[in-house]
Amino acid sequence: MLTVCGLTKRHANAHRAVFRSLELAVGAGEVVALVGESGIGKSTFLNCIAGLETADAGQILIGQPEKDIVTLDETARAALRAREIGFVFQAFHILPTLTVGQNIAVPLLLGRAPPATHPARIAELLEQVGLSGFAERWPATLSGGELQRVAIARALVHRPSLILADEPTGNLDPRTADEVMSLLLDQVRRQRAGALVVTHSRHVASRCDRMLTMAGDGLR
Ligand SMILES: Nc1ncnc2c1ncn2[C@@H]1O[C@H](COP(=O)(O)OP(=O)(O)OP(=O)(O)O)[C@@H](O)[C@H]1O
Ligand SMILES: [Mg+2]
Repeated sequence: MLTVCGLTKRHANAHRAVFRSLELAVGAGEVVALVGESGIGKSTFLNCIAGLETADAGQILIGQPEKDIVTLDETARAALRAREIGFVFQAFHILPTLTVGQNIAVPLLLGRAPPATHPARIAELLEQVGLSGFAERWPATLSGGELQRVAIARALVHRPSLILADEPTGNLDPRTADEVMSLLLDQVRRQRAGALVVTHSRHVASRCDRMLTMAGDGLR
């Protein structure tokens, strides 16, 4: 689902690389936890995989047939991202001027599913994240944890082959966090997708298939 080879990233004007020569493979149906101290480069790594930031060297192979997102131009990158990737951002990025239902629909609008099927799919996801009846609500009226669940529903709605989640349970109480992780694990396994989940929670990491720690000298 995801193969990363020799990935190196240096931010503009930074005197040293955030990370260099990272190697990672995530298989179908596998959920990999990524832990590491604040500022080490976890979000930067996820952004590079999604093609939201450009790596300086290395390969990131995604999709069937595999494509290297590092070498694609902006348009092809956006198309690959829309088709293959579901992203849960650390800061949600729920659009405040769209309702909850419209937010979840965004990946569907970029995909090939017939519009007539969208409402049922959105209702299904809302039910799975425990937010039935929230479709017409405005994001400003939701709690932090509810917003986080909307972000997860949006990342899963188009059945992506790769799910990248940056602290998907960071704002949830332990019980809701557990439920959200169950949903994520269940969907990934059912869809035979791969997932990379950044977390500061050892408990969340322990529920994943494998845990990697990002440190100054790479992934271990
Ligand atoms: N656009 C940028 N330009 C320069 N430096 C950046 C940029 N984005 C991130 N950084 C720096 O790169 C390093 C890695 O940041 P990143 O957000 O990837 O860390 P993180 O591991 O996700 O941390 P956290 O656990 O706090 O979310 C940090 O030192 C950060 O300040
Ligand atoms: Mg981060």
